[in-house]
Amino acid sequence: DVYDVAVVGATGAVGEAMISILEQRNFPVGELYPLASSRSAGKSISFRGSQVKVTDLAEFDFSKARIGLFSAGGSISEKYAPIAAAAGCVVVDNTSHFRRDEDIPLIVPEVNLEALSGYTTRGIIANPNCSTIQMLVALKPIYDAVGIERINVCTYQAVSGTGKEAIEELAGQTARLLNGQEAESKVYPKQIAFNALPHIDTFQDNGYTREEMKMVWETQKIFDDPSIQVNPTCVRVPVFFGHSEAVHIETVDKITAEQARELLSSAPGVQVMDERVDGGYPTAVSESAGTDPVFVGRIREDISHPRGLDMWVVADNVRKGAALNSVQIAEALVATYLD
Ligand code: A2P
Repeated sequence: DVYDVAVVGATGAVGEAMISILEQRNFPVGELYPLASSRSAGKSISFRGSQVKVTDLAEFDFSKARIGLFSAGGSISEKYAPIAAAAGCVVVDNTSHFRRDEDIPLIVPEVNLEALSGYTTRGIIANPNCSTIQMLVALKPIYDAVGIERINVCTYQAVSGTGKEAIEELAGQTARLLNGQEAESKVYPKQIAFNALPHIDTFQDNGYTREEMKMVWETQKIFDDPSIQVNPTCVRVPVFFGHSEAVHIETVDKITAEQARELLSSAPGVQVMDERVDGGYPTAVSESAGTDPVFVGRIREDISHPRGLDMWVVADNVRKGAALNSVQIAEALVATYLD
């Protein structure tokens, strides 16, 4: 069987990755419909060796597609995902718009694929936040083995998570500053080159940012555990591709670093890289950029807590954090639910 697939936001950082991952993983695509704004209509993108024209989303008839992969922003999904679903096109939505709705499954295939069956209510499946996905892929085997009470996490997030304009801002600022010129900030409120910004998404009344609160809400929903405590600080750093996270957990039962390393070594989607020598840990640039696994290193017992465990988790935010996870959801959908 083949399935006609619409990619909404096909000219964006995530949309482009979705199209190349569909091709790399041999997803059974019949027709591919790359959709974007009227600004991009008529441009060509390459898919499986041929050129495919980009169509204006506003003019597309979703009854032509069986699956829609959406990554063009929350307001676009708010408007068009229900239209697509009503036309019989199952939506995998990469934006945060539907993630907290109780009747929308929020899926990380390695973690909670069983929740996918709930998609039939609204015909929409949500792809979680990039930082949540990689953290939960790494924590799932430990959660299942010994339970987790609390997660303290600090993130070091790449600019590609913001989109193409942010990639250009980092490159442009870096070049200008190295040439002794002034660097303007448009996408971010402060200079991102050679800097670290403790601010991702909007500020909330409780002092956390929305990105931080997404990690709280989404972790509880995906683990189906409203009691799990999550305390995040999300930081944007001058890295193009790959989010890094310092994850500090308090488990219900004690787990040693050795046991955790052993569990993670055979966990789906995880690659352990944990040698206690110079360079024996994963980094965004050297390991994760352009690759699929969630890399885990620096696994060690917390010297300040009897049931504490620390680790360093790195993954390509555009791939596992967004496009790859969406395509994996679509793969599960066609394997089990679509005919
Ligand atoms: P376009 O390139 O035509 O603006 P990124 O996250 O990298 O900034 O990409 C955002 C994606 O969302 C792009 O593909 C962009 O298309 C698309 N997009 C933005 N606004 C709209 C809109 N109003 N209608 C359709 N697609 C949109």
